[in-house]
Amino acid sequence: MLAKSVLEIKETPIMEIANFGRAYSNRTGKKIFAAWFGEGNQPTKEIIYREAINSLKNGQTFYTYQNGLPKIREALSNYMNSVFGLNLTPENNSLVTGGMLGIKIICDMLIEKNDEVVIVGPVWPNIRSSVILKQAKIKEVNLKLKNKWQLDLTELFNSISNKTKMVFINSPSNPTGWMLNESEQEEITSFIRKRNCWLIADEVYHQIVFDRDVSPSFLQFAKPSDKLIVINSSSKSFNMTGWRVGWLSHPEFLGEHIAKLVQISTTGVPEFLQEGFFSALINYKSIVHGVKNDLKKSRDLVFERTKNWNKIHMPETNAAFYSFFKVKDMSNSVEYAKFLIEKTQVGLAPGVAFGKSGEGHLRLCFASDLNYLDNILNRLKKELS
Ligand SMILES: Cc1ncc(COP(=O)(O)O)c(C=O)c1O
Repeated sequence: MLAKSVLEIKETPIMEIANFGRAYSNRTGKKIFAAWFGEGNQPTKEIIYREAINSLKNGQTFYTYQNGLPKIREALSNYMNSVFGLNLTPENNSLVTGGMLGIKIICDMLIEKNDEVVIVGPVWPNIRSSVILKQAKIKEVNLKLKNKWQLDLTELFNSISNKTKMVFINSPSNPTGWMLNESEQEEITSFIRKRNCWLIADEVYHQIVFDRDVSPSFLQFAKPSDKLIVINSSSKSFNMTGWRVGWLSHPEFLGEHIAKLVQISTTGVPEFLQEGFFSALINYKSIVHGVKNDLKKSRDLVFERTKNWNKIHMPETNAAFYSFFKVKDMSNSVEYAKFLIEKTQVGLAPGVAFGKSGEGHLRLCFASDLNYLDNILNRLKKELS
């Protein structure tokens, strides 16, 4: 018999839609314009992958350091310090096999059965599943959509009890594009410090911000003794989703515990991938500049073209690469996403995948080239305007 916790995890409705779309395409021979996953259609830049190829040619194919090569941990602290004006040391950063494994390691390291975890939603489904796998109890505090998405800090603080082990906040957010500002981060940091629980900040979209340089980071308001872990990823800022490379910024004493959990999962990020990622880190300014420029054009196109569509309410956002919009009179986002595939051949993520509060919405990932996006918008217009 399988473990109860595994049986409790359901396949995400995003995969249900992707599988439906792929089967539809195989059956009918029609091309599907997919915008259901959180990634773009641009491959990794040569300045990154050529270092991975060189490393393979040089025979760097052996087991490696669990928390990352010393030079990678140093490059990570240089990157974080330069982007956010911090004073992190290499020992404050650990390389992991994608932000996803970072989340899993955090849950394994901190949560026990029946612990309480507060999550700000709607939120990327893997976060919720990782907590469920630990048989912990989730309390969800939901963003409210007014003109834009907002978090009620009083509601967040009231939901934190003395049983709360950790509070999970993803800003900039997938799926909503909502982002905390500095004063909110400062208030949350000092509140959580007093309550002595862990604050887990998922900041994987910190570079994907269009009206300022980067999003603020909780690390800017933390003291070295704070129970704060920040999750980051190469996926979104460097077009490296398939590489599975991410990192955690954490208090120094956690390094050895992270190393143990890396040891018994992946045993470390392959060295040749670290070499590629090293090049991404030291050349980050030019790479991110290009990625952001492209995304800004895509974002502007989506908001400009949909502004008068009367069947949707699409709040403009300045961060991450999603538009999470409400569809009037739509109560079943999975069925509606299937309908859109059959009618328009466009694949969107159903809002319910991000929690109950996401129902009634669809998520469009706009991280693709303008031609592809133009096609998507032309097709959707027939149903949504
Ligand atoms: C909010 C959020 N956190 C973490 C991740 C995981 O990123 P990675 O590709 O590094 O596993 C994603 C990926 O979609 C995400 O949207």
